[in-house]
Amino acid sequence: MPLAATMAAAARARALRAEGRDIVSLTLGEPGFATPPHIVEAAYRAARDGETKYPPIRGTPALLAAVREKFQRENKLDFSPDQVIVGHGARQIIYDALAATLEPGCEIVIPSPYWNAYPLIARMLGAVPVFVECDEAAGFLPDPEALAAAITPRTRWLVLNFPSNPTGAVCPPSHLARIAEALRPHRHVWILSDDIYEHLIHDGAPNPTIAAIAPDLADRTLTVSGVSKTYAMTGWRIGFAGGPARLLAAMARVQGQSTGGVSPIAQAAAVAALTGDQSCVADMRRAYAERAALFAEAFGSIPGLRCPRPAGAFYLYPRIDLLPCRTQGGRRLATDADFAEALLEEAGVATVHGAAFGRSPHLRLSVAAEPEALEAAHARTARFCAALDHDPRERF
Ligand SMILES: Cc1ncc(COP(=O)(O)O)c(C=O)c1O
Repeated sequence: MPLAATMAAAARARALRAEGRDIVSLTLGEPGFATPPHIVEAAYRAARDGETKYPPIRGTPALLAAVREKFQRENKLDFSPDQVIVGHGARQIIYDALAATLEPGCEIVIPSPYWNAYPLIARMLGAVPVFVECDEAAGFLPDPEALAAAITPRTRWLVLNFPSNPTGAVCPPSHLARIAEALRPHRHVWILSDDIYEHLIHDGAPNPTIAAIAPDLADRTLTVSGVSKTYAMTGWRIGFAGGPARLLAAMARVQGQSTGGVSPIAQAAAVAALTGDQSCVADMRRAYAERAALFAEAFGSIPGLRCPRPAGAFYLYPRIDLLPCRTQGGRRLATDADFAEALLEEAGVATVHGAAFGRSPHLRLSVAAEPEALEAAHARTARFCAALDHDPRERF
């Protein structure tokens, strides 16, 4: 089982730094912000007050109540207590759901480009990812008819992820309604709506989610979110989901026999995040939006790099097909993986190559990093690209 390319790239950057190399890493979707103090304070109180025992597998009553309230307030989704679950990050929620339902040979339809964990988890479970290519000219939104055409009797899941990692695509409600329409006849297919970046829509618009747009599909939709990206809490490992009780019961069994419940200290922090002052969310969103706009323009002005401004999340996904592809040292860069490797080795900028997300030749750059790191990465990338040798016969 391969290590996810995002994790491998981040580990490589860390290893080179440990050797004393000066590396700027734009690999992980890791907010540079510290977790807001009122959230940290709640964890401290929980630890001090003895919330240090094994937690219930599905989540503490306080966090489950806060999750239900959040879904109601923000997404207009009503879940009963047996329809919500808390896991070790959205990643584990997704793993629980797939492990509870997939058997070898089952298919999972994934719009491409995609977050690399979906196919990796599916393959780990013996299932087959079926990719539906999304057109860059259509804003990387999946074509509803193409999604429906990819469904077979073996399809068990279809994944939706807006705002998208890695493209930042945000799905307008009207397009989501068309997707719902296309999926409606396929009653055997579960819908996984991964809304982890729901608060990172750069113009501040609310994120439409399919279970709210098409309530008749709610009985086969799992709506996933968490606190990692919204509240700068990646290390606390809290994700959550709402969906049909029978699916959630099966997910709880997977979680119970794998990790058990999440640390009650982290859960207390997540309660403070969901129920406390929300101004930190808007502040961070504005900062990411500014960085995305600024650095999309900066990277896009490097000759040969095309870098559209994303509508959401915190990644840039520039296309590098117009760049020359031989380094000054004479090294031929045949793929985006070669490019990312040379950029790391020769310029000290760690990125993730586009092929890891299903589309080449691209790079993924996280703008969740500090502005100073982004400025340094931009200056180094511009120098690196300017020094590439041009041979019109050579293309990515
Ligand atoms: C699309 C997507 N879903 C889920 C996750 C996982 O989030 P968590 O930190 O809650 O496990 C990520 C993390 O990068 C992501 O990009």
